[in-house]
Amino acid sequence: MATQHAVILGALGVTGRNLLHWLEANTDWRITGVARRKPNFETRAQFVQVDLLDRDATFEALAHLKDVTHVFFCGFVPMPSWPEHDAPNLAILANGVEAIEKASPALEHVHLIEGTKIYGSHLGRFRTPAKEDDPPHMLPNFYYTQEQWLRRHRQGKDWSWSALRPQTVCGFSLGSPMNLINAIAVYAAISKEMGLPLRYPGSEAAYRAIYQVTDADLLSKCMHWCATAEGARDDVFNITNTDFFRWENVWPRFAKAFDMELGQVQHISLAQFMPDKAGLWQDIQKKYGLEPYSFEDLVSWPFADYCFTRDYDVMTDTLKIRRAGFHDCVDTEQMFIDLFDTLRAKRVIP
Ligand SMILES: NC(=O)c1ccc[n+]([C@@H]2O[C@H](COP(=O)([O-])OP(=O)(O)OC[C@H]3O[C@@H](n4cnc5c(N)ncnc54)[C@H](OP(=O)(O)O)[C@@H]3O)[C@@H](O)[C@H]2O)c1
Repeated sequence: MATQHAVILGALGVTGRNLLHWLEANTDWRITGVARRKPNFETRAQFVQVDLLDRDATFEALAHLKDVTHVFFCGFVPMPSWPEHDAPNLAILANGVEAIEKASPALEHVHLIEGTKIYGSHLGRFRTPAKEDDPPHMLPNFYYTQEQWLRRHRQGKDWSWSALRPQTVCGFSLGSPMNLINAIAVYAAISKEMGLPLRYPGSEAAYRAIYQVTDADLLSKCMHWCATAEGARDDVFNITNTDFFRWENVWPRFAKAFDMELGQVQHISLAQFMPDKAGLWQDIQKKYGLEPYSFEDLVSWPFADYCFTRDYDVMTDTLKIRRAGFHDCVDTEQMFIDLFDTLRAKRVIP
């Protein structure tokens, strides 16, 4: 019987769902997933469906979890403007953690997922490679708000905390406002069906700038390491695949992987140009016998536009986590190709 019991708050998103699969495959831990939806996949994890924004409902729904040792916070509430993210994203963290704390005297660790936007990577050029002790951008920043809350809230408690700052997490999920892999794969499949070459739809400058991503499996392994290693206690780390790339160098490989001709850069807003392809996507799904996931659940086009228009280098420094003892890394070019293969195997794309 496993002695560890992990609760994943936000267990169906790109970080939470992949962490759930990783813990299932690599540990004997008991796992409880928390989200508003039910999982649409086979899992040995228990699931609790609750709206974490509703404090009373959260305390009631999680009250039976009396032996939780580890909390992984992977929740996210998207909001129309950046400052508006603060309140709901702090609320879902505080409600979830406090409810578990009340229910489970066994709590050992709370892990928080932050992101590179704490350095202002979404605002424009920022100091690169960003280091963990760089100051945040002009507040508010919801990662900063969450981390400060966690630091304060942990004081005088027996449990420890840790946090990771990944850059663009790559893995399969449904209904995520930020899932780049799904966006690239669906965009390529639609372009191919329309007889178009694979064109980079972002800006020329972004095509040539340096970018980094974080493989969801690597991130999951790293979250588990943070939750269990002495060297990670009460600290925060950047995490990426460790290497860097430019879209101009990986895009030709994508064209090969999709068996398409490589086109030139042609900047379009995917958020404007793709919604009317929902019908075509249904035809593609029928033609190739794909899973009937809805177009909207698979891709959020504004996030793809966002990733493809960073006209400046996006780089974080990962020395700190390596010095602390986590040394895994991933070859990003190969990761993309492997993830496209995974999407094919899952019958998400042709
Ligand atoms: N995706 C990336 O590329 C990326 C990169 C860097 C950092 N991050 C950060 O990583 C964190 C997790 O992001 P993500 O991309 O994994 O998010 P995501 O794919 O949107 O997943 C969010 C999870 O939270 C759940 N959730 C949302 N609102 C909820 C509520 N009110 N009550 C209960 N559950 C709720 C969602 O499930 P339901 O909808 O079923 O409730 C889902 O399981 C965020 O802080 C994000 O900023 C993400």
